[in-house]
Amino acid sequence: MISISDLNDKNRITEISRLHKKAFPGFFLTQLGIPFLKALYTGYIEDDMSGIFIAQENNRIIGFLAYSKDYPLFFKHLLKKHVVRFAFCSAGAAIRHPSFIMRILGAFKKSDSVVKKEAYIELASICVDPECEGKGIGTALIEKLKYSVNFDRFSYISLETDAENNEPVNSFYMKNGFSLARTYKTGEGRLMNEYTYKPGENI
Ligand SMILES: CC(C)(COP(=O)(O)OP(=O)(O)OC[C@H]1O[C@@H](n2cnc3c(N)ncnc32)[C@H](O)[C@@H]1OP(=O)(O)O)[C@@H](O)C(=O)NCCC(=O)NCCS
Repeated sequence: MISISDLNDKNRITEISRLHKKAFPGFFLTQLGIPFLKALYTGYIEDDMSGIFIAQENNRIIGFLAYSKDYPLFFKHLLKKHVVRFAFCSAGAAIRHPSFIMRILGAFKKSDSVVKKEAYIELASICVDPECEGKGIGTALIEKLKYSVNFDRFSYISLETDAENNEPVNSFYMKNGFSLARTYKTGEGRLMNEYTYKPGENI
């Protein structure tokens, strides 16, 4: 049986990081390695305004979702706390990719034009073990997030995903009630779709 719950146990962060690596092969953050991913995901459970939901089957994590109620602040604290570790993990990547510094900032930080005035929830990362895809686990994680949000305090859930060559993921968000808010190009020319979810909007 599959269960969805909060992750509070830091001892399971390695499992989360390995799952990220498996579900996002070749992605930029994956290239930075497991120590980098561990620092990143530990940040979500240490931050009071952020968290991780996990999907488990037989005590094995088969999917997770990371979110933040104040993503710009989360990002700022994370960089401050782990600046040395990130610099160390990133050294190899920086040599391989000269545009690395801009890219790592871009990987976390929204462009200035995306900064929002209203309080919102950032769905920062979601993935499901490739062996378990298409069974409703991603949907169950999104449902858990929707039910945990106080929409009197937060206007909407926001997320970004690649606009190009990413049709299944875009359709996954649409099926889960998200609406395309806008499409924009990052500084490095990557076309991104920004989706938002507001309760009752897509009924
Ligand atoms: C996107 C993702 C989280 C969806 O999780 P999931 O558990 O497979 O999704 P669900 O079973 O709840 O929903 C299935 C729907 O998602 C979409 N989908 C996306 N990728 C899919 C895949 N590889 N296999 C099946 N369906 C997929 C389809 O629209 C599908 O609907 P359908 O069954 O009517 O065709 C998962 O495929 C994943 O981890 N992908 C890799 C990581 C990633 O790209 N994450 C998003 C970053 S923005």
